Amino acid sequence: MAVRKLVEGVYEVGVQHWDRREFDELIPLPEGTTYNAYVVMGSDKTALIDTVDPSKSHILFSNLRELGVKNIDYIISNHAEQDHSGTIPKLLELFPSAKVVTNAKAKGMLMDLLHIPEDKFQIIKEGDEVDLGGKTLTFYMTPWVHWPETMVTFLKEDGIVFSCDFFGAHLASSELFAEKDDRVYDAAKRYYAEIMMPFRVSIKKNVQKVKELEPRMIAPSHGPVYDDPSFIISAYEDWISDEVKREVVVAYISMHGSTEKMVEKLYDELVKRKIKTVLFNLSVADIGEFAMALVDAAAMVVASPTVLGGLHPKVAYALSLANALRPKLKLVGIMGSYGWGGMMPKQVRDLLSGLRVEYTQDLLVKGLPKEEDYRRIEELADEIVSRL
Ligand code: FEO
Repeated sequence: MAVRKLVEGVYEVGVQHWDRREFDELIPLPEGTTYNAYVVMGSDKTALIDTVDPSKSHILFSNLRELGVKNIDYIISNHAEQDHSGTIPKLLELFPSAKVVTNAKAKGMLMDLLHIPEDKFQIIKEGDEVDLGGKTLTFYMTPWVHWPETMVTFLKEDGIVFSCDFFGAHLASSELFAEKDDRVYDAAKRYYAEIMMPFRVSIKKNVQKVKELEPRMIAPSHGPVYDDPSFIISAYEDWISDEVKREVVVAYISMHGSTEKMVEKLYDELVKRKIKTVLFNLSVADIGEFAMALVDAAAMVVASPTVLGGLHPKVAYALSLANALRPKLKLVGIMGSYGWGGMMPKQVRDLLSGLRVEYTQDLLVKGLPKEEDYRRIEELADEIVSRL
């Protein structure tokens, strides 16, 4: 791996983890990820902002050697999760005089998660500064992006916000700076959908806070650095807005084709009515793409056969995820084919109990859909369009 320079005295020394394919044993990583860590060299002191996942700590150490770093005075911890903090204990062995600079809440978490001794910490609050000599780090609390202790570090002289997970993207790339293209946009949106979306209200305040700093760069700890912060800030402003788009997400599974026929009919009817509609067959869908579609959609239709007495377990998994992600959805429809029991809609409602949504009329069909069932699906499409 390589050291990459942002500006004079500021270097990215972290890791591109190209072949990591899952995060938190949950989130697919089709494009790998990165753990960015930043060295800031002042005339008197040196700081390291965030570290790397402990499985890749040897790369961080190699980069520090390549950069000629002899000592680290401050290890800034913007976020206690181990993909950024996990190498702090080894760094403290290498640089025993270093102080871990963070807020009081993060200190408690780092002590719990990594057993870092209390005397290693220097606690800062909102607006506090650490002067490195010509480079001044100021700290701003940005709680709930996506843990309660999260904060950002602002390098005043160069106008760089080090935002850790905030504005991040799971995207391994040899390019330091973000290209303003769909690949970067989609990776950042996927990251927002999977990790940040449940905290949309806190994120609104924190986006505003970062904007007021008028940064010249935003340097997250996952994915590329934004040398034009307006690209990522305006994307976030769109995702966190209260507006929904006239889009329908259909999440479904079919075992013997009956539910699939219903989904195909609904899809045709919605498209005829010029409604953007995205189908997710949950047997094969990338759950990250499902989450991304939920960022903007006004409505979701859940289609499941009845199996083992109720909702298909793979649909139940996707719904429990959707419930946890708290999308802006306004409307949910439920449909599916059953053989002899019709408890499925109640289970859907229970699993989505955290969402403030309205429901359309349930549409259950016994066995293979008949002509009259297809007419009911046309009516469901009409109902969805009229309520969007
Ligand atoms: Fe990238 Fe919340 O850790």
